[in-house]
Amino acid sequence: MDQFAHDKIPNIQLDMARLPRHIAIIMDGNGRWAQAQGLQRAAGHVEGVTTVRRITEECSRLGIGYLTLYAFSTENWNRPQEEVDALMHLIVTAIERETPDLIKNRVRLRVIGDSSRMPREALERLERCVQDTSAGDGLTLVLAISYSSRWEITDAVRRIAAEAADGSLDPAAITPDTVSRNLATAFMPDPDLLIRTGGDMRVSNFLLWQIAYAELYITDIYWPDFNGYDLRRAIADYQKRQRRFGLTGEQIQ
Ligand code: FPP
Repeated sequence: MDQFAHDKIPNIQLDMARLPRHIAIIMDGNGRWAQAQGLQRAAGHVEGVTTVRRITEECSRLGIGYLTLYAFSTENWNRPQEEVDALMHLIVTAIERETPDLIKNRVRLRVIGDSSRMPREALERLERCVQDTSAGDGLTLVLAISYSSRWEITDAVRRIAAEAADGSLDPAAITPDTVSRNLATAFMPDPDLLIRTGGDMRVSNFLLWQIAYAELYITDIYWPDFNGYDLRRAIADYQKRQRRFGLTGEQIQ
């Protein structure tokens, strides 16, 4: 737990040769941030968009390859309809507003999630932004919208089973790589670092397969308060860890 997160010490030294290639973030605490200020939950989501911009800029500046943000889970469809509508509207309008800047900064946008549950208009608008940024060769910003790991894995299993059933895939030849290639994230490496804001010690149905060897970093800071300094602190913490991937420390050295 990151109890000193707000002791701001400038100039965190990062080893630029050992940056995580892929950072995934569970952006939590918008509602609590708003309630703590006597505001409606929606105000927390609005402020959360500012943090999305700030953290995207910081990742882009640092040269991170992939940033995946958990913007809307399949479980979030069960929130009060008013909050669902407001969140969807906020996400789509924010992305549209930011698209010219994303293009300018060579950020490529991707969206992963169960598109069959998305309102058609929101989906079409997001797909246009994905298309408009497709030439970006800098940071890939991946928004997980209407996403859950169990949906994604179930979907992958369904497709693999269909190939097995029609004879194009031998079940004995199925490997972990077969599964990875059938996930929505097949186009990118697995996350090296998973950050969760808001202090809860859980992974909430996010990238369960892909985080098998990710380093976890949980901070009490609410998402609207999370900033570039906090991100660099998380990366510095990641760089102190020895990643063993199931091997011994001696084998790694
Ligand atoms: C969790 O806070 C956050 C969300 C469910 C939504 C996060 C979405 C945004 C920050 C907007 C994203 C925008 C773009 C452009 C990607 P919570 O409501 O669960 O907070 P709580 O745990 O304090 O109640």
